[in-house]
Amino acid sequence: MQLAVFSAKPYDKKYLTSTRATELDNATNIEVVYHEFALSLETVPLAKGASAVCVFVNDDLGADVLKSLHASGVRAILLRCAGYNNVDLEAAQRLGLFVANVPSYSPEAVAEFAVAQIQTLNRNTHRAYNRVREGNFSLQGLLGRTLNGKTVGVIGTGRIGVAFSRIMNGFGCRLLAYDVFENDDFKKYGTYTDLDTLLSESDFVSLHCPLTEKTRYIINDETLSKMKNGAMLVNTSRGGLINTKSVIAALKRKHLGGLALDVYEGEGALFYNDHSGHIIDDDELMRLTTFHNVLVCGHQAFFTEEALREIAEGTIRNLSDFLHDRQCKNALVQDQAGSEVIRKASVPIRI
Ligand code: NAI
Repeated sequence: MQLAVFSAKPYDKKYLTSTRATELDNATNIEVVYHEFALSLETVPLAKGASAVCVFVNDDLGADVLKSLHASGVRAILLRCAGYNNVDLEAAQRLGLFVANVPSYSPEAVAEFAVAQIQTLNRNTHRAYNRVREGNFSLQGLLGRTLNGKTVGVIGTGRIGVAFSRIMNGFGCRLLAYDVFENDDFKKYGTYTDLDTLLSESDFVSLHCPLTEKTRYIINDETLSKMKNGAMLVNTSRGGLINTKSVIAALKRKHLGGLALDVYEGEGALFYNDHSGHIIDDDELMRLTTFHNVLVCGHQAFFTEEALREIAEGTIRNLSDFLHDRQCKNALVQDQAGSEVIRKASVPIRI
């Protein structure tokens, strides 16, 4: 069988190649084809010949792409990530496709990055770095706030939200959380409250819920106006949680005191590629980068050696479950029929 890996960077190849040898049944014959570009309606013909595709956060797995994949013989979609907002799961279910993600890979990696963004923006180390290199040792404009004793609001207390809360609790912060389900693990560090109370009392608000129809633009004109004056907002979750126009307006009227983003709603067209020689046609992103109190990173919170290893292992285990017809604990959609042919063809042959 052929596995087509889309949005494949050198580090993906490195970790998938080294994991494949150890994790996957040695008797399984798999040819892996790497494509550096993303999966989309334009690139979907390149999946021809593959029985499974492996994708990342900005690949398009809308209904039309899934239909084309299915028509060309693809039966399994392997996500190298936790979020699956880019997959039309209903369409996948209708087509009988197997879809699995890697729901938990080093949640600490993402949580630690959210803390790094807070500390960078709050203490202005990004600005100090540039100043010192030019011989400017002035502290003017670098004033921060001591985290100890501050109130931190966590929206979404799953694996990453709890890991983040544990770290912020260590800083001596008071933690408030809002979630549609309460998690006992969070209660060791703070208390649950309603969204309005969280927004009005928090000095720092960090987003850790998935992007769904309910959470899209959870940060908008109205919720921003409920935030404490001068509070800082951090988003390491998904760009669509924030209405970019609204945060720009809140920054301009100096109500929002700082914004740290690892994700951005228009990131699909830009992130993970070098556009330094191009004119970037995204006025909102460019406006954001002009604020001294905005920090934008290119969706790198997951990017640690440990997380890449766990992503590769989880992806290959999901593929192995699919090929061996085992119950897959990470299945978002379990395939119904049609994959039997692929399994029979692939299992008895050597790599
Ligand atoms: P999780 O599934 O363990 O936790 C998500 C939490 O959000 C759950 O407690 C859930 O009840 C809550 N939630 C769902 N709907 C909600 C709503 N309407 N309002 C409030 N809370 C709601 O997920 P995990 O592993 O903690 O990941 C969170 C998100 O982080 C992922 O969905 C993904 O989008 C993002 N992520 C970002 C990465 C990066 O590199 N920047 C890497 C990995 C994940």
